[in-house]
Amino acid sequence: MSFTYISAAEAASFIKDGDILGLSGFTPAGTPKAVTMGLAKIAEEEHRNGRPFQVSLLTGASTGDSCDGVLTRAQAIRYRAPYTTNSDFRKAVNNGEIAYNDIHLSQVAQEIRYGFLGKIRVAIVEACEVTPDGKIYLTAAGGITPTVCNQADHIIVELNSAHSKNMMGLHDVYEPLDPPYRREIPIYKPNDRIGQPYVQVDPKKIIGIVETNLKDEARAFAEADPVTDKIGQNVADFLAADMRRGIIPASFLPLQSGVGNIANAVLGALGRDKTIPAFQMYTEVIQDSVIDLMREGRIKFGSTCSLSVTNECLDSIYDDMDFFRDKLVLRPSEISNHPEVARRLGIVSINTAIEADIYGNINSTHITGTKMMNGIGGSGDFTRNAYISIFTCPSIAKGGKISSIVPMVSHHDHNEHSVNIVITEQGVADLRGKSPKQRAEAIIENCAHPDYKQLLWDYLKLAGNKNQTPHFMQAALGMHVALSEKGDMREVNWADYTK
Ligand code: COA
Repeated sequence: MSFTYISAAEAASFIKDGDILGLSGFTPAGTPKAVTMGLAKIAEEEHRNGRPFQVSLLTGASTGDSCDGVLTRAQAIRYRAPYTTNSDFRKAVNNGEIAYNDIHLSQVAQEIRYGFLGKIRVAIVEACEVTPDGKIYLTAAGGITPTVCNQADHIIVELNSAHSKNMMGLHDVYEPLDPPYRREIPIYKPNDRIGQPYVQVDPKKIIGIVETNLKDEARAFAEADPVTDKIGQNVADFLAADMRRGIIPASFLPLQSGVGNIANAVLGALGRDKTIPAFQMYTEVIQDSVIDLMREGRIKFGSTCSLSVTNECLDSIYDDMDFFRDKLVLRPSEISNHPEVARRLGIVSINTAIEADIYGNINSTHITGTKMMNGIGGSGDFTRNAYISIFTCPSIAKGGKISSIVPMVSHHDHNEHSVNIVITEQGVADLRGKSPKQRAEAIIENCAHPDYKQLLWDYLKLAGNKNQTPHFMQAALGMHVALSEKGDMREVNWADYTK
């Protein structure tokens, strides 16, 4: 079949007010860019003419500014799931302008198939190649692309020459059957391949191909600082000690690690610690630091959903595909984050918390309990099923006005039953095998900042020694109240609660 080549504006004009759109990509990697920019212009024009124009967006994870950014500024998003890092989008969500559904990333594809999220009318998919018989070769991410292509009535392909055709072959596309026919996901090692290197679609669904040459919009991370470096070192030292004790096998275990500076610092420290053997990753996002460690021989293999790397790094991978071809596989998010596989492979998960409480509950998503930051991402997929689940965070935020260790988290994402280890720059709290009271002592002693240690001990005293999980409920969010009323958690006065 021969395809129709259309402009981004023509493709966007096919989209109607109220449509549900399914997008390729995972982080800005592999996300379509041109059609969403065209769509934002249409929305602005429609709004100028007094007509409503808003769509719902289903994505793999976050996108780039050419999607979440431009569409938010054009007030073109009615509903969006599952994850974002865009600051304009975040503002709009917290102003109540966009309905945002924050789902575990492994669940998005199946929730689409189960019919929980409505009918997708148009899938917009970035590709480095598409064949007349409907084989779509994806770019830098797997995301939810197989599912949105299968479920959508129509497909628009952005054929992006900024991505090398060398990408062909790196993907392993596999979509499980749904219950009651679901079988095991037959991945027994991070480098097992179980699917096809392309997404097969009915070519008749492809309404047009938009040729583009647009680089991914990778986020730049701040330089490492002493706090993130210390956290990274604490994680590496902890894992090396667990290996020496025989808790982690001598061949080591596959790692899942989040994005950002702390993840970079953790990987850097693990790379430097030569007592830890070269290891593998089974993760959702690979960033530059992983690629560097592959070149140094410290990481043997990376299974991921996306190459969320800088463009310079991505080009260097494309140029060196002979080296990387047997060291990388890109999977749909449903598989990269699959709880069954995480549990089977014995993943060590390392994710970042916004705040942790003294009992080991974690808030990954909400600033002071109500304002969305980004979303839960894949942290829940991995944490709940990890061999060892680790959360890291600096012990304080905003120059010390906020303690990341609090009596009670202001929003719960990961509960005490799933969290094994909390690590800050102050130290490591090993929560395994501990009761809530023992956990509280470990977290306050090892993870809290010196400015907050005594306040937290005083809270624990106030909470008393009775009950399984002691709390003085009226004061449990007292540090958050002090922040809101006096601008500093250190201003909390527990005596105010006992008058
Ligand atoms: N209370 C209030 N604000 C806090 C805070 C707290 N306890 N802890 C951090 N913050 C603020 C920081 O000051 C910073 O504010 P700024 O943007 O105004 O500078 C902001 O929150 C982000 O903190 P930062 O330390 O820069 O975080 P990060 O880039 O390391 O991201 C998460 C941390 C938790 C937001 C991020 O890891 C995330 O979105 N996690 C959930 C998704 C996930 O884990 N995915 C799985 C793997 S990819």
